[in-house]
Amino acid sequence: PRVAVLISGRGSNMMSLIEAAAAPDFPAEIACVISNRPEAHGLARAQAANIPVRAIDHKAFADRPSFDAALDAALAEEQIDFVCLAGFMRLLTRAFTEKWAGRMINIHPALLPSFKGLHTHERALSEGVLIHGCTVHFVTAEMDVGPIIMQAAVPVLEGDTPGTLGARVLAQEHVIYPAALRLVCDGRARLEGNRVGLDAFEI
Ligand code: GRF
Repeated sequence: PRVAVLISGRGSNMMSLIEAAAAPDFPAEIACVISNRPEAHGLARAQAANIPVRAIDHKAFADRPSFDAALDAALAEEQIDFVCLAGFMRLLTRAFTEKWAGRMINIHPALLPSFKGLHTHERALSEGVLIHGCTVHFVTAEMDVGPIIMQAAVPVLEGDTPGTLGARVLAQEHVIYPAALRLVCDGRARLEGNRVGLDAFEI
């Protein structure tokens, strides 16, 4: 299968997917990287790794449906089978999420269903949780709600700042995102209604 990675920024998760997919036994190819921000640093990193890149600047579109239509057209041109959102900071329309249901996944820097949305590490610290982490899930119309494929937990340590906690979580993101993509591309993790059908696996 051919995978597109959608980004808006630095692209560290994108790089973890590109690096994992370079292994000969990885069941998918990272066929292109698309950013809604032409200046995203991740585009240069993908290019340096010889991955085709596209910028589709959301500011050039009048509304969400027309941006999503351009995105969908680019995915069709690139003959994409699966989409990974990796720090992609645009909300997608219901029509787009329904079209890609079961074939689009996201990484979120919190243990969903806690801390949907932004500033997850700040919020985890201010709530005083002792365990934090990250989640890979299928994307559905509602943001950060789709069925969960994989999670990793990290401890919150004395003296943590959003920066130190976020770095600890990010290291785990880079482990579980490639592992989850592998399961999805193998058909070992499937969207079944509003649950995930999951076969046994080892990381
Ligand atoms: C990550 O923390 C990811 O979980 C969130 O946005 C951040 C993107 O970082 N959705 P990067 O661009 O992958 O480095």
